[in-house]
Amino acid sequence: MIRIGIIGLGYWGPNLVRVLTGLRDCRPVAFCDLNIPRLKSYSERYPEALATTDVSEVLTRDCVDAVIIATPTKTHFALARRALEQGLHVFVEKPLATTSAECEELIALAEQNEVTLFVGHVFLYSAPVAKLKDMVETGELGDLYYISSCRRNLGPVRHDVSALWDLAPHDISIMLELMGSLPRSVSCSGLAYLNRSIHDVCTLTMHFENNRMGVVHVSWLDPHKKREMTVVGSKKMAVYNDVEPLEKIKVYDNGVTGPMFCESFGEFQFSYRYGDTYSPRLVEVEPLKAECRAFLDSIATGTASRTDGQNGLNVVRVLEAADMSLHSGHGEVHLDAVEEQLASRHTLVAKGA
Ligand SMILES: NC(=O)c1ccc[n+]([C@@H]2O[C@H](COP(=O)([O-])OP(=O)(O)OC[C@H]3O[C@@H](n4cnc5c(N)ncnc54)[C@H](O)[C@@H]3O)[C@@H](O)[C@H]2O)c1
Repeated sequence: MIRIGIIGLGYWGPNLVRVLTGLRDCRPVAFCDLNIPRLKSYSERYPEALATTDVSEVLTRDCVDAVIIATPTKTHFALARRALEQGLHVFVEKPLATTSAECEELIALAEQNEVTLFVGHVFLYSAPVAKLKDMVETGELGDLYYISSCRRNLGPVRHDVSALWDLAPHDISIMLELMGSLPRSVSCSGLAYLNRSIHDVCTLTMHFENNRMGVVHVSWLDPHKKREMTVVGSKKMAVYNDVEPLEKIKVYDNGVTGPMFCESFGEFQFSYRYGDTYSPRLVEVEPLKAECRAFLDSIATGTASRTDGQNGLNVVRVLEAADMSLHSGHGEVHLDAVEEQLASRHTLVAKGA
């Protein structure tokens, strides 16, 4: 039986508590939040469990094996570091931390203490993403050209991080999974309207090897809720609409081909193919349940999950490079250059320059 402490009981934490309560091999034994009325409702429902505003009480209790951190993004690193230092298994909501250096420190700590570090990239446990991955890997879509996504809604507006850091981790994690690699470079544009230092709307472009591209548009300042991703291949195109209750994926057997040879511009004609459109059957799983299952399995077996610390670091590396582009004229930023820049900044700080 894995005994779990949940830190953060705002909007998202209660969903994790609901799912964990339904799993046989774990038990919520401690709840922590700074909001006392919220905490009180949990101590009434779980009278045997510890309910506290002081995270140290959760981290130092012998009765806790693992913690789930569902607090605002800027608090993730400090809380996760303290938990790992105590030898606890840690599930951190997305994004893992706010810099790649922080992610690397968490990964190293988890390795030293031989505990699981897990990040809440929940869509990697969803049936539509598994189906898209299968269609890419089996070649059903042909050669992958580009992926574009749109994630927008009215709120929830964050005070600690931008819409890019809050919303884009989902789309970035899915695109890295489908592309099978990190992008070479990124560029990002966006604007801040509600709070001058926090971007409300952003568009991120990721450039991958082999002329492939991923475009992510996010906003919390939009009248409609939209969660859509289009995957375009040389043979077929797939649209994943997460707001759709039943047919979340539609595959279009559509494409465009040019002539193999032509002698003059006049002969150059594209031919458009409009084939069948169909919706593949998806094996229904609740992504959050599958995610919590993967965390518990990783603890039980000591093996890495698909959303381990490295997976969290990959997403943060993209966000970090995107932020650099956003704050420096929206130009292209190479991920390797970010590494070098951060490493030299680190050396200067270490030398006290
Ligand atoms: N996977 C998803 O689809 C998904 C969806 C929403 C949010 N999230 C993530 O979940 C996390 C929380 O988001 P939210 O929407 O629930 O935010 P929220 O602001 O509604 O809730 C955060 C809670 O954390 C508490 N808190 C803050 N600092 C704390 C501390 N030091 N110790 C204990 N409690 C503390 C606050 O009192 C609040 O109740 C974020 O990382 C967010 O990115 C994930």
